[in-house]
Amino acid sequence: MPVAISRVIADAVRKEKAAERFYADAAAKAAEPGAREFLLRLAREEARHAELLSGRGVADFLASEPPASQDLRIVEFLERRSIGPKASFQDVLIFAIKREHASFSAYQALAEAANDDPVRKLFRRLAQEERTHRNRLETLYDEVVFVEN
Ligand SMILES: [Fe+2]
Ligand SMILES: [Fe+2]
Repeated sequence: MPVAISRVIADAVRKEKAAERFYADAAAKAAEPGAREFLLRLAREEARHAELLSGRGVADFLASEPPASQDLRIVEFLERRSIGPKASFQDVLIFAIKREHASFSAYQALAEAANDDPVRKLFRRLAQEERTHRNRLETLYDEVVFVEN
C-alpha cells in the first residue's frame, strides 16, 4: 500500500526545516559577509519550501518562472566528509552539495510516484529548486577551491 501523501509531505517539511537550520548555522559561522549572505539566502529558500509543502503560496510559486540551472557535475567527484565543529568552509560546501543532490533526487522520485497532478507539479518544481541550490553551491565550491589550491 502506498505511503499516505500526508506522511510524505510531513517528512519533506521536516527535512526542509532541518536544511534551513543547517544553512542558518553555517551562515552564523561564516567568516565572510558574502558567504554569510549566500547561506542565509539558501536558509530562506528552504524555509519557503517548508511553507509551500504546508500549502502556502503554491499557486504563485507554480506560476513563477522556474530557476535556470546548469549542471556542473562536481557532485560526482566529491567524497562525502563528516562535518564536525572544526569543519572548514570547503567541508561544509561538500556536505551541502551532497545533501542538495539527495533532496533533488528525492523530490524527483516523489514527483514520479505522485498520482495527483498538482502534487506532482509541486514536487517537480521543488526538485528544480534543489538542483539550483546544488548548482549554486557547486559554483561557489569551484571558486573557493580554485582560489585556495
Ligand atoms: Fe528545499
Ligand atoms: Fe535546497
